[in-house]
Amino acid sequence: MDKKLLEIVFDNLYNGIYVVDGKGITIGVNKTFEEMSGFSNKELAGKSLYDLVGKDNYFSGSASLLVLERKCPVTATYSTSTNRKLLVKGRPIFNPQGEIEYIINTIWDLTVVHYNQQIDADTARSHLLSEDDLVTCSEKMSSVIDLALRVAETDSTILLTGESGVGKSLLAKTIHRSSERKHNVLMKINCAAIPESLIEAELFGYEGGAFTGADNRGKAGLLETAKGGTVFLDEISELPLHLQSKLLGVIQEKEFYRVGGREAQQTDIRLIAATNKDLIKLVSEGQFREDLYYRLNVVPIPLPALRERKEDIPTLIQHFTDKYNHKYNSYKKFSENLINQMVSMPWKGNIRELENVVERSIVTTPGDFISWEKVQIPGMENTIPSGLGLKEMLAEREKEILLQAQEQYRTTRRIAAVLDISQASTARKLKSIREK
Ligand SMILES: Nc1ncnc2c1ncn2[C@@H]1O[C@H](COP(=O)(O)OP(=O)(O)OP(=O)(O)O)[C@@H](O)[C@H]1O
Ligand SMILES: [Mg+2]
Repeated sequence: MDKKLLEIVFDNLYNGIYVVDGKGITIGVNKTFEEMSGFSNKELAGKSLYDLVGKDNYFSGSASLLVLERKCPVTATYSTSTNRKLLVKGRPIFNPQGEIEYIINTIWDLTVVHYNQQIDADTARSHLLSEDDLVTCSEKMSSVIDLALRVAETDSTILLTGESGVGKSLLAKTIHRSSERKHNVLMKINCAAIPESLIEAELFGYEGGAFTGADNRGKAGLLETAKGGTVFLDEISELPLHLQSKLLGVIQEKEFYRVGGREAQQTDIRLIAATNKDLIKLVSEGQFREDLYYRLNVVPIPLPALRERKEDIPTLIQHFTDKYNHKYNSYKKFSENLINQMVSMPWKGNIRELENVVERSIVTTPGDFISWEKVQIPGMENTIPSGLGLKEMLAEREKEILLQAQEQYRTTRRIAAVLDISQASTARKLKSIREK
């Protein structure tokens, strides 16, 4: 292909493209990215992502920086200061020496606001971290996201399964936002949260006088309000059996009756259901309708537990550290040893627990350096980490003392005096910490 044609292809891809070099400097973006993000190639080219994410506040985070740090492909969603939401897949290109030479980012637009909406910069910045972002570098989870993106474009019913806290709700939101229905509502209904006596009227609505206490004028249900959009039925296993058959009708006939109603209501919704229960087991126990199960299970998407994708732990720690440093205006960092420790310990919980650990550590740990003796992680209390020799543990402790002393005493002369070592040795040790 000649160069001119390549340029035409580059600018006319359906996805945005963002190319970065091995140092995190933006090489260029295509036209689609310019349209998606609201930033031009001219203003981005030559800029370092460290600045664009940091002081310049263009993006809430960067897949490229995670790729550089972890040297593996990363999938993530981010917001821009122009209030756009983007899903980014960053792939490293290595040179023969095994160093990252380029990072090619492919971008999907998850923005829901209309493009011509004017938002002033302050409002946009305050939006930057207002929503949860998704990050992964595991192959298992990336293929889950790939599948989700592929089926998002269709109108198929999707069943998300997986333990509590693996990201089902977050993925449902991502699917909705990458679908044709994204400018319409995403109606989230937690079947376990609505009392059984109210759930039918809530979902399907009712006609005036349908039951005592009902509004005389009747009321549209959530399925009716969601017209044109997506309905996310969370904890679907908790839907009472008689409503399971009514829901089956919605899926099969695309219509239903309000409580006390005679006129069929037409539906135009996309259904995403989620559960952390074993639905097949519930079917065999007679707790869940088999026919509904098969109707929901058109596209099953099982999300792997965090312990099945431990390679995600360092990336997620990094991501949540950035998130909470931003929130609490701090500059804390997890030590490499602590991160390794968190990867090797048995994880019962999922991403919600990991996020809690990171937030708690950032809020409660004094100093900027979070190491294994300072944090309290359920299952890791008072343990001497395995895989760390005495030498490494001492080195980590030394590093911490030096950083703390630096914070307190600033100059190498004063630090050396307090720690009773030579000034040359203080300077050397601090330099080696900085370079690590
Ligand atoms: N890949 C990810 N990257 C970043 N954050 C994530 C990721 N997956 C999940 N989270 C965060 O972890 C928390 C739990 O995720 P979510 O609520 O989607 O889980 P869930 O599977 O729906 O759990 P439950 O079954 O309890 O409803 C949320 O705060 C979410 O933002
Ligand atoms: Mg959920």
